[in-house]
This record gives sequence, structure tokens and C-alpha cells, in this order.
Amino acid sequence: MERKISLSGIKPTGTPHLGNYLGLIKPGLELAQTYKALYFIADYHGLTTVRDGKEFERMTYDVAAVWLALGMNPEEVIFFRQSDVPELFELTWILACFTAKGLLNRAHAYKAAVDINVKAERDPDEGINAGLYTYPVLMAADILLYGSHIVPVGEDQRQHIEITRDIAMAFNNNYGEILVIPEAFIQPSVATIPGIDGRKMSKSYDNVIPIFAPASQVRKRVMGIVTDSRPPEQPKNPDEDNIFNIYRHFALPEEVEAMRQKYLRGGFGYGEVKQELFNVLERNFDAARNRYEAFSKDRAYLEKMLLDGAERARAMGAPLMRKVRKAVGVRFNR
Ligand code: ADP
Ligand code: TRP
Repeated sequence: MERKISLSGIKPTGTPHLGNYLGLIKPGLELAQTYKALYFIADYHGLTTVRDGKEFERMTYDVAAVWLALGMNPEEVIFFRQSDVPELFELTWILACFTAKGLLNRAHAYKAAVDINVKAERDPDEGINAGLYTYPVLMAADILLYGSHIVPVGEDQRQHIEITRDIAMAFNNNYGEILVIPEAFIQPSVATIPGIDGRKMSKSYDNVIPIFAPASQVRKRVMGIVTDSRPPEQPKNPDEDNIFNIYRHFALPEEVEAMRQKYLRGGFGYGEVKQELFNVLERNFDAARNRYEAFSKDRAYLEKMLLDGAERARAMGAPLMRKVRKAVGVRFNR
């Protein structure tokens, strides 16, 4: 039987962090055991915010090196750069013609940007580019082009998958069952990993713990995690603590349980558990960091892998594009 398809993307807007790892990379690699996996670097989505071309290029290779270091096998996973697939734009336009504008008005990222302007008593659309506004349509094309069945992501992307489903259904309603209706794959326990300030860990909040920064930098970030001001002797609720909520994903089950008991008993300082978190992070990622550094230096290899992935991705998208062109009535025999 043909394998079903798992697809996801990550923007090259900063070095990948523990939230990306738990919400996307780890589940994505697990799904690649049973699904045909297509994972890509969403550089055109990143372009809605990044303005330094050289740095953007560097971050694209950085993301590729991170996935490889974490064990992605590029023979199995089709790993590519979004901008290497020109068919995406054709599909984006066609889908835009089936996207209710109101749907985009309600998309979180755009709405949040408008809300900030309104609060500051500026024009609602000030500083907002049309790329940010149409972001969800490009994302729908990413997903629908390859007939993806599931999309592993963190909670913040749920709405985008809902929008994708709405667009696909509008298209299918008119032309028949051409597009596969995808499902989000979001594991509740890792849906939203907190950053060092307790908000969602995100490259855009500068509150991340990078997966592969040098150990001294990771340590500094861990030591900077915000905690409450309870004195050491008092018992603490582990589930409400940012350190514990990261620790529990990286320590062994018995270590997590022991740490939970320690919180409930009290009688320890946050500095001590920060050190323990740092230790388990090192244990998890230290060996992979060496691989990351080696891959980062080998741009020729990374580039070759990305181009090879794009070729395979394009071949996968081609039959669907022919069907879509034919259905809407533009030339399809090319
Ligand atoms: P960021 O929010 O840091 O800019 P991206 O938007 O590139 O990261 O996200 C890439 C993937 O990682 C998405 O699927 C996203 O949902 C997931 N992700 C990002 N931050 C977190 C987090 N804090 N917890 C869980 N998943 C996350
Ligand atoms: N918007 C996603 C993010 O910010 C990245 C992304 C682009 C994506 N295209 C996608 C994720 C398609 C899943 C499927 O994280």
C-alpha cells in the first residue's frame, strides 16, 4: 500500500530551538518511519519578516544542518527549500481565488499585527506587507501540492491548517475531490513549549533555548529562565514552573518523577534545577552538536541535498498540478 504523506515546514528566521524540536522536528522524524515525509525550509514565509539577504541564506543552511544533525535521513525524507518549487506559486494563485478574504482578515498573525497598530492608534495596516496577509494561502499551497495527509506542527499553526482545509473544501466543492483534506498532527504534551520568559518559545520573542548553540550560551539561556520568587524551603508546583516544563521532555521518566517529588517537597533552589536542566540538555544534544557543526561547514553538501530534495518534491507535485490546471480550465498539457 502507498504510504500516506506527512509534510511540514520551518521558517529560516533564526536558529531552531527546543520548541521547534519538540513541536515539529522530533515528531516529524518519528512520523517519517511510517509516512512518506516531506519537510522543507519555508524561506518564502520567512521573507515576510527577514530583510538581510546574506543572513537569510545562512539561516537556511543552518536549518538544514540542524535537521541532519538530529538524524534526518535525506534518502528517506524529501527535504527541500520551498523557493526551489516554482509550481507553488501557480497553485498559490489558484487557491487565492478560492480563499474568502474574510478568512485572511481573521488569520492570527495578521490580526495580531493589526491589533498592535490599533492599540497604538496608528492606521490598522501600517507596516503590514501583503506577504504577511496572504501567508496562509502560500501555506495551503505548500500542504495541498503534495497531497499531504498529516501536518506535524505546534499549536500556533493549528489555525493555518484549518484555513488550508477550508480552502481545499471550497476548491473540491466546485471541481470534485481533487485536493486531499489534511489533518494537523499536534501532540498535546508538546503543543506549546514555554520560552525562558514563560511565553511560547519563539524566534520572534527572543526567549528561546537554541538546540545547538555552544554550551556556554545554552547555559546562559537556561540560567535566565524566569521563575517565581518563592524561597528555597517552600514547596512548588512543578506544572506551573518553566524549568520543569522544559526538563520533563528531556529527562528520563524516573528522573522526571524524582524532580516532581522534589518540587512538591520544596527545600531546593531554582539555580540547582536549572543546572540539572542544563545537564540533561547536554546529555541529549552534545553528540549531535558535533554533527551539526560539521554539516554547517559543508555548504556544498547541504546545497546538493536541498536541490535533490526539490527535484523529488517537484516530481511529486506535478501530477496534482496537471489535475488542478485541467479542472480550472487553464492549459495543462505542458
Ligand atoms: P518560531 O515560532 O520560533 O518562529 P516557526 O514558526 O518556524 O518557529 O515554527 C516551526 C515549527 O515549530 C511550527 O510547527 C511551530 O508550530 C513549531 N513550534 C514553534 N515554537 C514552538 C513551541 N514553543 N512549542 C511547540 N511547537 C513550536
Ligand atoms: N507557517 C509555518 C510556521 O510558521 C511554517 C510553514 C510554512 C509550514 N508552510 C508550511 C508548516 C506548511 C506546515 C506546513 O511555523
